[in-house]
Amino acid sequence: MSETTITTKLYAQGGDTAFPKIVLPEIPGLAKIEVYESNGGYGALKKAIGMQPDAVTDEVKKSGLRGRGGAAFPTGLKWTFMPKQTEKPKYLAINADESEPGSFKDRQILEFNPHQLIEGIVIASYAMGIRTAYVYIRGEYYKWMKILQGALDEAYARGYAGENILGSNFSVNIYIHRGAGAYICGEESGLMESIEGKRGYPRVKPPFPAQNGLWGNPTTINNVETIANVPAILWNGADWFSKIGAQKHPGTLLFGVSGHVNSPGVFELPSGTLLTDIIYKYAGGVIGEKKIKMVIPGGSSMPPLRGDQLEGVRMDAESLKNVGSAVGTGGVIVMDEDTDLVKVLLRVTKFYWHESCGQCTPCREGTGWMRKILERMNDGNGKVEDLDLLIRVANNIEGNTICALGDATAWPVKFTIQRFRKELEEEILRQARTAA
Ligand SMILES: Cc1cc2nc3c(=O)[nH]c(=O)nc-3n(C[C@H](O)[C@H](O)[C@H](O)COP(=O)(O)O)c2cc1C
Repeated sequence: MSETTITTKLYAQGGDTAFPKIVLPEIPGLAKIEVYESNGGYGALKKAIGMQPDAVTDEVKKSGLRGRGGAAFPTGLKWTFMPKQTEKPKYLAINADESEPGSFKDRQILEFNPHQLIEGIVIASYAMGIRTAYVYIRGEYYKWMKILQGALDEAYARGYAGENILGSNFSVNIYIHRGAGAYICGEESGLMESIEGKRGYPRVKPPFPAQNGLWGNPTTINNVETIANVPAILWNGADWFSKIGAQKHPGTLLFGVSGHVNSPGVFELPSGTLLTDIIYKYAGGVIGEKKIKMVIPGGSSMPPLRGDQLEGVRMDAESLKNVGSAVGTGGVIVMDEDTDLVKVLLRVTKFYWHESCGQCTPCREGTGWMRKILERMNDGNGKVEDLDLLIRVANNIEGNTICALGDATAWPVKFTIQRFRKELEEEILRQARTAA
């Protein structure tokens, strides 16, 4: 690839919009390596390899990039936790498990821009002195696994992965590891157990993965979207990135919008975009112009917002925290005024009950109890007092489990009841009358 082929089209394409498309640029055929290269692809890797590894980490740290896997943890800071002087092998694990209901954004990167992910993996490995990286992909993503493997083969053939990358003395091998359909294997320590060939039981932390990760060795786990941002940061600089979107949670975010909207889909928008703009401007508004009853802003485990609470809400970590929710994975689930909230809670709870690994008693038993209570309600045999019982069970799960699946199951139940008590009471009484 000659210098002249490098354009700024990739990594920061604005297109006909005022803001950049960093991880999903609108360039046809970008999944092919020739197209990626001819738009400047792998130019950031070239730049990174000419820098000191610590300077690469510093750039990511300065950019303010935060993890896109749910917790919005600062990425550069996470990378600094990896020990520099160690005899042990170090690992990078990319989380492509994407099993949270309402979350379907990482697969867009895998399908339409896999080379930017691969480029990000190689840059991250270089920065942290890692020679082995895994992409842990959910079992159901067979199609996306094939696309990624095809892209990896291309990257190896052109010397962007494997031994002596771009003629340097840096080498990293990248392996795809397929999951077998378990949500818990998206939790970072469950993921590592699964890569090690064991049952996906989350580990007690500390020790954290940077000390005791894969096979007891230092490991960094990052989400697909997080790592796909890295080449753009290296190419355009930390200052450029830090000025996009919300100051404390900069960059673009992929918002996967589903539910009762006219045009569901994944939209790459600056962080801090108004939730109402996402729903009405980008996702085409609510089907049949109905009112909104509830929106879950960040995937099914995040606290829901009331339809009359959406005005002025911005989609970034701080803003959502201020209104009692969280940005999670940016999976926006919109429910119209006719939505039966008992059915929603039952559906969501059934998922977490099914996916609970069973290791911690509060989660194993509590998810089952909540499911039974909600089934009873849904059958028309519920009582208004059951709402308090559900909150009690949820409170006994929250914070009392090894991993955050416990919170993921407690929050939707607890916050939906707190925020929609009147509607739920009416629904229980209506269903009881119907059943009588
Ligand atoms: C039950 C559970 C499931 C999770 N699933 C995913 C997932 O599918 N993808 C993901 O990136 N993070 C998932 N996470 C978060 C990861 O544990 C981890 O924080 C994340 O991969 C770190 O990447 P980031 O710092 O780039 O966001 C999950 C967490 C929990 C508790």
